[in-house]
Amino acid sequence: MTYAYTLKVNGRHAPIQADPMRRLLDVLREDLGLTGAKEGCGEGECGACAVLLDGEPVCSCLVPVTQAEGRAITTVEGLAEDKDLDPLQEAFVTEGGVQCGACTPGILVTARAFLDNTRDHGRPLRRDPDRDHIREALAGNLCRCTGYEPILRSIIATPARPPEECERAAVVLPPVQPLPLADAITRLVNGATPIAGCTDLMVQGIDPGAPIVDLLTIPELSGIECGDDVIDIGAATTFTEFREHPAAGALLALDDAAAMVGGWQIQTRATIGGNIATASPAGDSLPALLALDAELVLHGPDGPRTIPYAEMHTGYRQTALRPGELIVRIRVPHPPPGTFHCFRKVGTRAAQAISKVVVAMVARPEGRRLTHVRIAAGSVADRPIRLRATEALLEGQGPGGAHPEAAGAAARAEVSPIDDVRSTREYRSWVLGRVVSWMVRSFWMSRTFRSG
Ligand SMILES: Cc1cc2nc3c(=O)[nH]c(=O)nc-3n(C[C@H](O)[C@H](O)[C@H](O)COP(=O)(O)OP(=O)(O)OC[C@H]3O[C@@H](n4cnc5c(N)ncnc54)[C@H](O)[C@@H]3O)c2cc1C
Ligand code: FES
Ligand code: FES
Repeated sequence: MTYAYTLKVNGRHAPIQADPMRRLLDVLREDLGLTGAKEGCGEGECGACAVLLDGEPVCSCLVPVTQAEGRAITTVEGLAEDKDLDPLQEAFVTEGGVQCGACTPGILVTARAFLDNTRDHGRPLRRDPDRDHIREALAGNLCRCTGYEPILRSIIATPARPPEECERAAVVLPPVQPLPLADAITRLVNGATPIAGCTDLMVQGIDPGAPIVDLLTIPELSGIECGDDVIDIGAATTFTEFREHPAAGALLALDDAAAMVGGWQIQTRATIGGNIATASPAGDSLPALLALDAELVLHGPDGPRTIPYAEMHTGYRQTALRPGELIVRIRVPHPPPGTFHCFRKVGTRAAQAISKVVVAMVARPEGRRLTHVRIAAGSVADRPIRLRATEALLEGQGPGGAHPEAAGAAARAEVSPIDDVRSTREYRSWVLGRVVSWMVRSFWMSRTFRSG
């Protein structure tokens, strides 16, 4: 069934008729004739289809058109004014940043968003134009012929625009048409599929005619509240929203995990609730939430209930969610000052990789002792797990009492990973041991401990 939508593309209104789950990429290319965004992988991996939604880069192959209505869409065609190239495009020409052009439209819009990002939320800007920041911003854009050096040079050579020209929209937009939570639950009970950032759902595929409930339009699932005791995160919070919120400074293990979820185009769309509900044993935020002693507020036909996060994952890609139930909020105890956080993901490459092993550790120094030790790991079992025997070995120990290598051996002893196409069980358990040893060593060497 199709609906009428009015999209705002490159400052102009574009009325279209489409199925709600039709890909924004197809609407742009086939219905609106804007062929700048390209289809490469169709799975969010290459960035060739990147466009901006309210100034943030997204993979248009993963955005259903229903979630693009009411947002400002910028494609590469919208960068140049009439025949005047954007200074970024000029720099790509003069510095040799463009050759075949398959990747160039996606890189240009992502780089434009990077250069225009003036938000700081009281924290240091992450995307000022140095090489590391540019590399991080472009981690989701692949180029296979020019090479990255001329691309980096082109971006560095682009003059900054004054903030008023950046035309950035606010980060958290009011939902287009707020959907009451109770109505959403009724629709779910009647068989609708919940959709959030769609970074998993669009890859798995969803029946075009299937009824959906857009979780991004439910007010109860959005926003982050930072209390003295608890940090309360809406399940529809994207990883980018979280990273740019002051709460990220208090939950460093989760902040580091958020930074590792795909590239920038994935982080602007992927929600924390979606990461939990997908329940992949390799999900990056899951060990961090376990180590942070999070709890989940769920809401279903029988009303709300709260469960410890440790009870959420019940098997391979299985959760404690009951039919018609949603993850509404993620509540994390506010860690006291001096808490040690550590997160490490090991994959085949630095960005856009599925973890082979992912570990989070949270602990506190008390005098010369290690206390409140929480270590959680992913990709080493059918679900993310706490390493409770390793925690027990370390709890209350001083620097002479718990050797990092012993902690690593304990971690190895309490998991039974399985072989799969990505790694052998021996590799996973060896890496887990190395990472846990490194984390414990990092704790003893950290300022947290030495000043604790
Ligand atoms: C290119 C690419 C790279 C990726 N890299 C990583 C990575 O590095 N690390 C990682 O962990 N993941 C990665 N992912 C997976 C994905 O981005 C995350 O799992 C993401 O957090 C899913 O969130 P979403 O909002 O997009 O969920 P959606 O795709 O919208 O939904 C996923 C599932 O969760 C359900 N759901 C969503 N929200 C809720 C809720 N609040 N309550 C109940 N059910 C809900 C949906 O019905 C659906 O079944 C990657 C994906 C892609 C395409
Ligand atoms: S086509 Fe590759 S990310 Fe969309
Ligand atoms: S210029 Fe050819 S893939 Fe990037």
